Amino acid sequence: MAMQPQRTEIAARAAQIAETMSRLEGPLLPILHEVQEEFGHIPTEALPVIADVLNLSRAEIHGVVSFYHDFRRKPAGRHVLKLCKAEACQSMGGEAIARQIQKALGVGFNETSADGSVTLEPVYCLGLCACAPSAMLDGEPIGRLDADAVAEIATKVRS
Ligand code: FES
Repeated sequence: MAMQPQRTEIAARAAQIAETMSRLEGPLLPILHEVQEEFGHIPTEALPVIADVLNLSRAEIHGVVSFYHDFRRKPAGRHVLKLCKAEACQSMGGEAIARQIQKALGVGFNETSADGSVTLEPVYCLGLCACAPSAMLDGEPIGRLDADAVAEIATKVRS
């Protein structure tokens, strides 16, 4: 596993990102996306730094990070499975698939498996409603999820 950067390195890099992007219109979301891109999640140490650069309170930054499902507060596993929990997928058996996936991977939503192989995250529409129920594994769309697809996903993330 890659070494985690030191606290101060995180703060310094987050400050650099925030300063570079602070002149954008509505800079907070692009900054948070960039920080997540850099670290794989939004480290706690980055929050006060971003707040300072943008002249916002930590609570405001925290509120935004918690509001958007895209932002992760902890590092993800080696694979990230995003499972759609929006209406079209739910109406096509998404709830049962969600139970099967959680059982097969041994992980709940917004959790990473104990072996670090996979993080399961809910999403609310992947634009794949015609192939519901849908998911995305490491950015690859998977439609028409069924028991076989669940088994295949479980094998893939453990390999
Ligand atoms: S509702 Fe699941 S992909 Fe649109």
